Amino acid sequence: MLMQELSEAEYFLKKFHSLYPGATSSSFAHGQTLCGISSYERLLKVIPESEQPITVLDLACGDGFLLQRLAERQQARLCLVGVDLSPEELDAAQARLVSAAVVLYCARAQALPLSDASVDFVLCHLALMLMDGVREVVASVHRVLKPGGVFSAVVVGEFQRGDAYEAFVQLLKNYLSEVNTRGPRLGDPLTFSEQGLRSLFSAGTGFVEPIWIEDFVIRLDAPRNKVWEMLSLMYDVVLLSDEAKVRLEAEFISAMGMLERADGSVPCSMGLRQITCTRL
Ligand SMILES: C[S@@+](CC[C@H](N)C(=O)[O-])C[C@H]1O[C@@H](n2cnc3c(N)ncnc32)[C@H](O)[C@@H]1O
Repeated sequence: MLMQELSEAEYFLKKFHSLYPGATSSSFAHGQTLCGISSYERLLKVIPESEQPITVLDLACGDGFLLQRLAERQQARLCLVGVDLSPEELDAAQARLVSAAVVLYCARAQALPLSDASVDFVLCHLALMLMDGVREVVASVHRVLKPGGVFSAVVVGEFQRGDAYEAFVQLLKNYLSEVNTRGPRLGDPLTFSEQGLRSLFSAGTGFVEPIWIEDFVIRLDAPRNKVWEMLSLMYDVVLLSDEAKVRLEAEFISAMGMLERADGSVPCSMGLRQITCTRL
């Protein structure tokens, strides 16, 4: 296992993912953009279906959902690598990738255990905006990419108002302030805005300008119990006691009555952002 000392935020993330491996893919694999594809599929489209040898690194690969989708292509000469700091997520990835030739490393994105200029594509789904030391992450990605190699990441984008997600966030905020608890601050604010991302991935850090950024909305509409199952896997919910969690669930499910549609689903959406850039 290759792992340096973890920051407070990384320790929190590692603990969370030891309890809930696969939490992200269980929610987002079913999400759909306006074009009817998931946020994972947006990243998959970046990888060409080619007979050329291609090495892809999934940075913070979690339970390996994205790697599995790439492995299913059965694309000859596609070499797959995953890195994550959570051993439990990597165990889940190993289990789902049992018949695929994929190399998995337990390591921090800030210190990738890969050779210089060894990777053609780095993908990263819903993780860059959680990482502290993000400038080190960018330098690490730059180091392992070949010149002309491509980095593409999906991060959290504009907050969507008026549906289940906003109601949930508001209720959770109330519950957290009731017990006066706050988790560690996750991520570097530079990854929260288009301007910040442009400053991170620039000619100065070794990427072709202008980088490509596109905002999109992912719909996670589902019956209220299902929406609760997804949203209750948000990081800060683990800070609540079991009793508070039960109350939050009851209050959320009841509030969803207002939003429920004739087919029994409630609207739930999240704003995401995809950034793609080429290494100089
Ligand atoms: C929200 S999950 C996303 C997992 C996966 N990419 C997916 O979308 O299914 C975030 C993942 O990032 C990993 N992670 C967070 N910070 C990391 C870091 N600095 N280095 C490596 N992995 C990290 C966590 O362990 C977790 O598996």
